[in-house]
Amino acid sequence: MSTTTIIGSQWGDEGKGKIADLLSEDADWVVRFNGGPNAGHTVVDEEGEFKFHHLPSASLHEGCKVLLGPGMVINPVGLVEELDQLQAKRGLKPEIFIGSRAHVITPYHPVLEVLEKSKEEVGTTGRGIGPTYQDKAARSGFRFMDLVKEDFEDRFRERLDRLKGIWGDPESLTDLDTSEFLDAVARLRELLSGDRLVNSSTLINAAIDGEEKVIFEGAQGSLLDIDMGTYPFVTSSNPTIGGIGTGAGVSPTRVERRIGVVKAYTTRVGKGPMPTENNEELGEWLREKGGEYGATTGRPRRCGPLDLVGLKFTTKLNDFTEIALTKLDVLSGLDEIKVANGYRLDGDKITEFPPSSEDLARCEPTYMTLGGWEEEVTDAKNLEDLPTAARDYVNFVEAELDVPVSIVSVGKKRSETIVR
Ligand code: GDP
Ligand code: IMO
Ligand code: MG
Repeated sequence: MSTTTIIGSQWGDEGKGKIADLLSEDADWVVRFNGGPNAGHTVVDEEGEFKFHHLPSASLHEGCKVLLGPGMVINPVGLVEELDQLQAKRGLKPEIFIGSRAHVITPYHPVLEVLEKSKEEVGTTGRGIGPTYQDKAARSGFRFMDLVKEDFEDRFRERLDRLKGIWGDPESLTDLDTSEFLDAVARLRELLSGDRLVNSSTLINAAIDGEEKVIFEGAQGSLLDIDMGTYPFVTSSNPTIGGIGTGAGVSPTRVERRIGVVKAYTTRVGKGPMPTENNEELGEWLREKGGEYGATTGRPRRCGPLDLVGLKFTTKLNDFTEIALTKLDVLSGLDEIKVANGYRLDGDKITEFPPSSEDLARCEPTYMTLGGWEEEVTDAKNLEDLPTAARDYVNFVEAELDVPVSIVSVGKKRSETIVR
């Protein structure tokens, strides 16, 4: 099958980067459709670790074209840095295309994030994501098709002046250094000259028609979706399947393989309810063993057992056809493994993920216990190589979500993967 998407099923950081890299070896196109540099996607190959923020993880594969879709918000400075790093560290220069409708993160957007207090109240990444999507919805944003025009700098300064007025001339806006931004804009103009600024819908639909292999790499996770997630503790885009329609201009009905990436336990970074959060020994143990520190901000991730209530909700939302279960190796060494199979809300047992974050914060998970295993599993190449209890865990997830687990990740490296 030629079209695949990789979507986070929890609160992000499920290991999408590793799975996207694995599946894109022979891809023609890899497309990002949502978010921007709030994403941190880690790939570990023979040459070491690389963290992607704007670029899709497939950028390590020569010959694979990458598209930053129109649903993204892109920081010119960050993108140029990422491209430079890729060239310096790996000698790679990916063939990059940008959807002309994608929005530009300018230097005032991260400042607005602080002024609006969403950094402290929501625990955002501070990359200007919310304010850029806010400008898009308010119809006062800049798109990449604007950035390449002659009058861009004038329009950018006009907007900045207007914002200074609205916010009462705070120093953070009046002293804003814009030179690095304008330099990066100039570099991107050069890079995008020719045919690199594209109508993503035409381009990718034609690629699919021509039976090229296309992968859509989701960022963030389904429970961070602006519409379906734990609002207001969410990101400002749609990391779910519908995001492909609006964020790449390709109908989700064209995506045959819809792979939900499920971490073998739950993590969350930033604020907001997380019913299975464990603030005791287990949470700490998972954080240390799993290296659960943010790939973008370095913040410690909140950790706890798998939450089937959230997962069943996001499995339906995205109509996953396959599951990639990641970080199974991290669970080695636990005597027993707890999994949440329901919640109690004000004394009533519920099995549906509540739409209200206030309700979710009051939910007490109900747990069932599965057997643990002692052995390390990182060398396993087939399911049969796993201890029985680990295999039972994989089968349990598959049965509960009613979707085949087609990939089991047992380590960071590309090679540490079981493909069924
Ligand atoms: P993403 O945002 O979904 O791409 O995930 P991140 O890259 O932010 O976080 C996943 C982290 O787990 C990274 O450090 C990966 O290198 C690492 N990782 C991915 N899969 C596995 C796995 O199966 N086992 C272990 N131990 N680490 C993994
Ligand atoms: P990847 O693609 C985990 C979280 C932030 C915050 C909320 C809103 O690596 O899985 P934002 O800066 O987007 O306005 O922050 O969303 N968040 C992520 N958490 N992984 C991510 O991306 C995230 N991107 C945003 O921590 O709680
Ligand atoms: Mg990440």
